[in-house]
Amino acid sequence: MHSSELKRAAARAALDDLVVGAVLGVGSGSTVDLFVDELAALASPPPALVCASQRTAARARSRGLRVLDLNEVLAGGASIPVYVDGADEIDPQLRMIKGGGAALTREKIVASASGHFVCIVDASKCVRRLGAFPLPVEVIPMARELVAQRLRALGGEPSLRESGLTDNGNEILDVRGLDLADPERVEACIEQWPGVVAAGLFAVHGADVAIIAAPDGIERRKATGARG
Ligand code: A5P
Repeated sequence: MHSSELKRAAARAALDDLVVGAVLGVGSGSTVDLFVDELAALASPPPALVCASQRTAARARSRGLRVLDLNEVLAGGASIPVYVDGADEIDPQLRMIKGGGAALTREKIVASASGHFVCIVDASKCVRRLGAFPLPVEVIPMARELVAQRLRALGGEPSLRESGLTDNGNEILDVRGLDLADPERVEACIEQWPGVVAAGLFAVHGADVAIIAAPDGIERRKATGARG
């Protein structure tokens, strides 16, 4: 089975997690693109989406879905009970590396504003331990070298992503070689440095549910233990 078919299967399974009549948070990436297509095919799609990237917003609008700004939704007193997004890696505790598509900061914001994080992945994203995928870190451009030096001191090898700026006008450092045995600690450490906008570790707040599509079927895995 091709990975895009698995991604679509995971995306389709997440339709069971929608809260009828509620605004839905959606992330970014190729799996989310397929999820947006599934939403657009529903007889009663969500009344509005809050999207974590311009890419997702454009796709949703092009398929006739209503897209609202996060500020608008929150100021209007509405809640976002569910957030659906993909991941670059996910571990057994449902901690993730995200940001391969450079949308990590807005993904963290919309996830944080939402109630329940549903992660949709094909089984190739499942790892015993995070860290084979380079960790994306969004930085304010003037702080790039300062942050890179600190990442090196932490044991990482940062390299500047050349494919352009984020939706926020910032740069991405992709960091190889970090020891992510304690991802919550690394996330908290990196995110306190001036100039860092966000690290693509979603460990302090991981997913609540993972929908994992494999050739032999769909697995639905729930987070265990106390996590925020
Ligand atoms: C976007 O910045 C990322 O966090 C994506 O959620 C992640 O890269 C997964 O993307 P795919 O669904 O394209 O694999």
